[in-house]
Amino acid sequence: CGIVGYAGARPALNIVLDGLRRLEYRGYDSAGVAIVNGELLTAKRAGKLANLEKAVTELLAEEAGHALGVGTTGIGHTRWATHGGPTDRNAHPHRSLDGRVAVIHNGIIENFAKLRAELESAGIEFASDTDTECAAHLLSIALHDAEGDTPGERLADAMRAVCRRLEGAFTLLAVDVQAPGVVVGARRNSPLVVGRGQGENYLASDVSAFIEHTREAVELGQDQVVLISGDAIVITDFLGNAAEGKTFHIDWDASAAEKGGYDYFMLKEIAEQPHAVAETLLGRLNEHGDLMLDEVRLTDQDLRDVDKVFIVACGTAYHAGMVAKYAIEHWTRIPCEVELASEFRYRDPVLDRSTLVVAISQSGETMDTLMALRHAKEQKARVLAVCNTNGSTIPRESDAVLYTHAGPEIAVASTKAFLTQLVACYLVGLHLAQVRGVKYADEVAAVVAQLQEMPAKVEQVLSMMAPIRELARELAEAKSVLFIGRHVSYPVALEGALKLKELAYMHAEGFAAGELKHGPIALIDHGTPVVCVVPSPRGRGVLHDKVVSNIQEVRARGARTIVIAEEGDEAVRPYADHLFRVPVTPTLLAPLVTTVPLQVLACEIAAARGHDVDQPRNLAKSVTVE
Ligand code: G6P
Repeated sequence: CGIVGYAGARPALNIVLDGLRRLEYRGYDSAGVAIVNGELLTAKRAGKLANLEKAVTELLAEEAGHALGVGTTGIGHTRWATHGGPTDRNAHPHRSLDGRVAVIHNGIIENFAKLRAELESAGIEFASDTDTECAAHLLSIALHDAEGDTPGERLADAMRAVCRRLEGAFTLLAVDVQAPGVVVGARRNSPLVVGRGQGENYLASDVSAFIEHTREAVELGQDQVVLISGDAIVITDFLGNAAEGKTFHIDWDASAAEKGGYDYFMLKEIAEQPHAVAETLLGRLNEHGDLMLDEVRLTDQDLRDVDKVFIVACGTAYHAGMVAKYAIEHWTRIPCEVELASEFRYRDPVLDRSTLVVAISQSGETMDTLMALRHAKEQKARVLAVCNTNGSTIPRESDAVLYTHAGPEIAVASTKAFLTQLVACYLVGLHLAQVRGVKYADEVAAVVAQLQEMPAKVEQVLSMMAPIRELARELAEAKSVLFIGRHVSYPVALEGALKLKELAYMHAEGFAAGELKHGPIALIDHGTPVVCVVPSPRGRGVLHDKVVSNIQEVRARGARTIVIAEEGDEAVRPYADHLFRVPVTPTLLAPLVTTVPLQVLACEIAAARGHDVDQPRNLAKSVTVE
C-alpha cells in the first residue's frame, strides 16, 4: 500500500492526492483521505485513485465537504488488499467509533484476530473487515490515558502504546481531531520516510510522494514513532526514548518519474533500458580492474571464504537470479542456488558463515525477500543486496550492496530494473571470480568490455520492434502462449511468460526447451503460439542445435513458431513462422537482448486487449506482506 501524510500551512488535500498518484504503483484496489479542519473529514472509494478523486470533487461541491478542501493536515492511502476485499468500507482511512481519530496502514497486523475479539467483547462494533480498524479503536482508547503536554504529544504517546500491542508488519499514520496540525506515524518492517519542508513536513512510503516539494528526507528506523507538524519532526522509539532517523538528500530527477511522452510508463521504461544498463556499469571498474561495490561491509577475505551462493528473490527479480546462477557458477566455480524468497526460510536451508546470500529486489521492500535475508543473517550467512532503491530496508540490513541504477521504475511490470539486475549480478560474479583468483583482472576487464557494448545492442533491438507490435495485434486473441529456451534463455522464457500473464491476463508458460517433450508438449495444438528463444550458434554450438531440434518438434505438432535468434543464424529460418533478430552477443549476456522483444510483445498484446498496462489488475509493484 502507499501512504502519505502532510502537516503545514497549505491545504493538504491536493498535496495528499498528488502524493497518492505517485504511490499508486504500490497498490490501487481502493484509496482514501482524511483531513483535519476543526472536524475530521474522510473520503474513500474502492477502485483506482480516479474514483476517489471523483468522490472528492463531488464532496467539495457540497457545503458539508467544503472543509475538506481547506484543512492543512491530512493523510491518504492507496491500498493493495490483504484483510478484507477491495470495497468502499474496507478502504482506508479507518476511524474510531467516536470519530476522533483516523488511521491508515500498510502491512499486516498478525495478531489482529485476537485484538478484534478483545475489542468486540468490549462492545465495539467493527465497520470493516480490515486488520487496520483495530488500530483505530485501540488508538482512541489509548488516547484516554496518553501522556504529554500537547495534544500532538499525547497522540504520539497513544500511538506508541498501540504499537507495543501490535505484531506483524506495519506502517501506521494517524490524525486526531483534537491535535490539529499534527500527523503521527509509526513503522515496523514496512517503509516510512519523512520529507522535511519549509514550514511543512511530509510522511510517505517512499520519497516519490513528496519529491516535487522537498529533496530533504529522513528515513525512519525500525520500531520508531514520528510526530510531524509544520515546524517539527520528533522521532522516538516505541517506548518514548528520543531517537534519530537517517537524513539523506534525494538526487532523483522528478521528471524521471513522469511519462515523458510515452503512452505508458512501461514503454518509457523499456526505452530507457540502454541508459539504465549503461548507468549500472558506470564507474564500477577502477583503474586496477577492481569492481567497485556501493556499500561493502564484507572483506575480500570474507568473499574468499564463500563456499556456496544462494540467490533469493521474487517475481522478475527471481528470473534475474536464475540467469545469475549460470554466470556465477561458470565464472567462480562456486555452487550457486536460486530460490524463491517466499520458500527459502521455511525449508530450513543449510547456511553458515561461508554462505553468501544475494538478495535481489528492485524496491528493496519486498517482505518475502526481506524475511529470507533476515533468516540468512540469523544463520550467520553474509548478505549482499542487489537493489534499485537507495536507503530501502533490504540494502540497509545487508552486509554489502550493489545498487542498480535503473532510476525510478513506475510500471508495475518490471523491465529496466530486470536488465540492470542482470548487469549487477554479472558484476557480482566477476568480482567474486577475481577476488578468489579464478579470473584475473584482464579476463574480468574483457567481460566488462563486452558488457559495455550492451547498451548499444539493447538500443539496436529496440529499433527493430515494429514487426513485434504487428505480431502482438495478431496474437491478442490467442488462448495461450508458450515460451521455450535452454540455459540462460530458460529464465528468459519464464520472464516472457510472466510478463504476458501479468499484463495481458493470458495463459502463458515458460519451459526449459528440453523438458517440453516430457509432458508439456501435449499442450501444443494447431496454431498454438510458441516463442522460442535461441542461443547463439557460436557460443555453445550443441546448445543451439538442440534448441533448433526442439523448435522442429513443436512445429511438427502444429505450433506457430515465433523465433528470437541471433543475426546470421540461418539454421532456424526454415522452422520460424516469425523470425526476430537480436545482435550477436556472448551466450551468458544474451538475456540482456533477448528479453527485450518479449517485454514489448507482452506490453503490446495487453494494450491491444485494452488493459491497463502500467497497473495490471490484482498486482502491486512492491508487495510488503508475506
Ligand atoms: C511484485 C511485483 C513484481 C516484482 C516482485 C519483486 O510482485 O509485481 O513485478 O518482480 O514484486 O519485487 P522487488 O521489488 O523485490 O524486485
